[in-house]
Amino acid sequence: MKRAVLVSIWYLQLIPLISCVVDRSQFPATFLFGTATSSYQIEGAYLAGNKSLSNWDVFTHIPGKVMDGSNGDVADDHYYRYMEDVELMHSLGVNSYRFSISWSRILPRGRFGGVNSVGIEFYNNIINAILLRGIQPFVTLNHFDIPQVLEDRYGSWLNSQIQQDYGYFAEVCFKAYGDRVKYWSTFNEPNMTITLGYLSGDFPPNHCSQSTICISGDSAIEPYIAAHNLILSHATAVDIYRKKFQAKQGGMIGIVLNAAWYEPLRSIPADHLAVQRALAFDNAWFLDPIMYGDYPPEMHQILGNRLPTFSMKEKDKLMNKLDFVGINHYTTKYVKDCLFTPCNVGTLQGDSFVYFTGERDGVLIGEPMAMSGYYVVPYGIEKIVLYFKERYNNTPMFITETGFPQTSYPGASVKDLLNDTKRIEFLNDYLTFLAKALRDGGADVRGYFIWSLIDNFEWLFGYTLRFGLYYVDWLTLERIPKLSATWYRQFLNGNNILNYMTFPSNSTYHPS
Ligand code: NOJ
Repeated sequence: MKRAVLVSIWYLQLIPLISCVVDRSQFPATFLFGTATSSYQIEGAYLAGNKSLSNWDVFTHIPGKVMDGSNGDVADDHYYRYMEDVELMHSLGVNSYRFSISWSRILPRGRFGGVNSVGIEFYNNIINAILLRGIQPFVTLNHFDIPQVLEDRYGSWLNSQIQQDYGYFAEVCFKAYGDRVKYWSTFNEPNMTITLGYLSGDFPPNHCSQSTICISGDSAIEPYIAAHNLILSHATAVDIYRKKFQAKQGGMIGIVLNAAWYEPLRSIPADHLAVQRALAFDNAWFLDPIMYGDYPPEMHQILGNRLPTFSMKEKDKLMNKLDFVGINHYTTKYVKDCLFTPCNVGTLQGDSFVYFTGERDGVLIGEPMAMSGYYVVPYGIEKIVLYFKERYNNTPMFITETGFPQTSYPGASVKDLLNDTKRIEFLNDYLTFLAKALRDGGADVRGYFIWSLIDNFEWLFGYTLRFGLYYVDWLTLERIPKLSATWYRQFLNGNNILNYMTFPSNSTYHPS
């Protein structure tokens, strides 16, 4: 069915309601409320301060890799304007800031060269500036970008040497910043790093089985080897933190997954099983080894000896290697079984034998977002949180990202982009269901970060999508608050302006 028809059917399904209004007081006083960014997406200054090239610096310079031909060479120029961005956060009234450290700024040659004091100083400046304003740093050690030299030298995640390099990098960071940083995540969305890097080849290092798309690779084998090394790298870093730093520094360390929620397409056992498989291939792939020492049964059954094995020593090293689970949650999709009844699956879902769709009987699961395949489904955040709660014994959780993209095509009206009422509704509605997960579900969720503070470089989409609470003018790099920035400030002040804003009556999807 054509998209236009689908959308109009979806509109007919809307229940014209004003959103429920969520309140700051529905969350504990100690709850972290923040905004999130990552180094490659905002810093720019890609050659400054003795930094070496990262894999993303190299990849984005290959013609055709990024939709609008852009790159992060300048991005938001945050490297030079960070104080301005710190003031933006301060004015929002957030109590935390999630950002990542560029590995190639700290160790331009990995463990084969010295520590770059200019890079160390840059993040020291940010940490000190935010702490002065009552904002806690929530630091990601790796958000997709790695020194290119590690790729060139030994093939990065495909080689077990990366465990040593990653451990070394983590230790340098704990030493330099751990006196002030109390929240560390080892990796952002390793499930994306691996599937996009080694299965579809859309991300660096551009490996997959299709020689017309990728430089080399084997989509049936490499993702599992790369993930294996990444999981053991996580365990190495956590081991170092626990043995040498945690007692003295008193922080927490975890990992962040990209975690969509899935609903069965049909009310049949096969689709319910498919949901469990999809969740296992997304999340338990990484979290089961880190918590329980082995890959999930759903993966063993399908992959057999394509899954690498952990030695007894590695299993011991892995067990309970998490203080928290970070959840990046944006969307929910329907899932259909393709294991018992063969059907066409996308490249990324091949091994899990599931088919993803946003549509059931001609009706979309929620309002489509500007990012293709994303739908606004507020109840999904409650369900994904409860899934993690059950599977991992209510290990503390943080919503490390959620957010709403806008299309930024040339000629888009700045006024419309600033007047982002759809984003406000999205944030309000997802927060409403998050509050429910805490209240009714007893989920130990301790924080929530909006992606993102400012519009920034959105990977394969370049600058065509805008996620920021602040609009960025790509010519002048001026930051301008969107309406959602005002909304967040007021929400954090205990006053949700949705109370007195008027929305088009048909603009929110509410599940019955
Ligand atoms: C996930 C990633 O962590 C982040 O880098 C990205 O920009 C957002 N989600 C939006 O796609």
